[in-house]
Amino acid sequence: MPLTSEQLSAMTAAIWRRVSVRSYKDGRVPVETLVEVLRAGEGAIPLWPHIPVRFVLVEDADAFLQEHGGTLLGYGRILGAPHFIVAVSEMTAGYMENMGFRMEQMILYATALGLGTCWMGGFYSRERVGHLVGLAKDEQVVALTPVGWPAAGGPGRLLDKTLKAFVPDRGGRKPLERLVFAGRWDAPAGQLLTQRSVLHATLEAARRAPSWRNTQPWRFIITDDALVVTASRPAEQIGLPYYRLDAGIAMSHISLVAVCAGIQPAWMLDPERQAGLRADLAIPGHYDILGSLRLDERWHMPAPAEIMAREPDHADTRR
Ligand SMILES: Cc1cc2nc3c(=O)[nH]c(=O)nc-3n(C[C@H](O)[C@H](O)[C@H](O)COP(=O)(O)O)c2cc1C
Repeated sequence: MPLTSEQLSAMTAAIWRRVSVRSYKDGRVPVETLVEVLRAGEGAIPLWPHIPVRFVLVEDADAFLQEHGGTLLGYGRILGAPHFIVAVSEMTAGYMENMGFRMEQMILYATALGLGTCWMGGFYSRERVGHLVGLAKDEQVVALTPVGWPAAGGPGRLLDKTLKAFVPDRGGRKPLERLVFAGRWDAPAGQLLTQRSVLHATLEAARRAPSWRNTQPWRFIITDDALVVTASRPAEQIGLPYYRLDAGIAMSHISLVAVCAGIQPAWMLDPERQAGLRADLAIPGHYDILGSLRLDERWHMPAPAEIMAREPDHADTRR
C-alpha cells in the first residue's frame, strides 16, 4: 500500500529529528508497531520501481545475535536493541541508491513513531545474515537497522571508541555552500541558498541525511532547469558502494520535502543524458552522477514554513 499524505508529512518532519540511536531501553516494541514500520518500507516511494526489495523483521534480536555468533559489528556498538530489520535487494544496476531511497523512508517513519534506528552497513558477516534471512540467488543484504525505544543518554556514547575513530565529525554536517554549486562544478550557489525556496528546503533536507561514516559524499549542481545529484566514489571501497546508498538517502529527503510542498519530483536516471552532463558541468571523474530532477518555477517559490529546518545544527541529541 502506498504511503498516505499524513504519513509522508510525518516522515518529512522526522528528517530534522532523526539521529543514529545506538543505546536502547529494555522493552520490546509491540509487534503491530513493527509491522507498521515494515509496511512503510514496503509502501515507500521507489527510485527504481522495477528493483525488488524486501525488509525482514528480526523480532528476537538476542536469538538473532546468538545465531550470528554473538556479535553484529558495525563501527558503532549497538546496545540493547530488541529488534532488527534487515534490508534485502535484488542486485541490479541502481540497487544501492534505490535501497537508500526506500529504507530511509522506513527509518523516518519509525522516527515519527518515536522509535530509534541506526543505519548499519558493515562489518557484520553479510553471508551469515543472508543465511539467517534466506537469500535468493540474485539477492544481497544491503543494510540493517536496530529498532527499539531510544535510551536517553545511554552509556553507548561514552564507551564507543571505535565510533569516535570511524566517525570523527559525528553528527556534524558540511555547510550547504560546500555541497551545492550553481551552473557548473565549484561555482558558488550564492543567493539560491538563502531564498528559503522549496529548492533551498530540499537541499537543507538532503544535507541532513545520514551517511556511511558521516562522509556526506553528495554534491549538487543547480542548472537553469535541473538539480543534478552526484556522489564521490571513495578511493578504496570497504564493503558495498555505500556512497550510492548515501546518495539515495539524500535523494529521498529531496523527494519527501518536494512532495510535501506539492511537487511530484520526477527523477531522471538515464546514464546517456548524464554522460553529456559531466562535460557540460565539469563534474570530476571520481564523482558518479546519480540522477537529476527537472526544475521549474515552483521550486523557486517560498517553501511552506512547516518544511524548513526546525532544529539548530549540531544539536547534540545523539545517543
Ligand atoms: C549506509 C550507512 C551505513 C552506516 N553504518 C553504520 C555502522 O555500521 N555502524 C554505526 O554505528 N553507524 C553506522 N551508520 C550511521 C552513521 O555513522 C551516521 O548516520 C552518521 O554518523 C551521522 O550521524 P546521525 O545519523 O546521528 O545524523 C551508517 C550510516 C549509513 C547511512
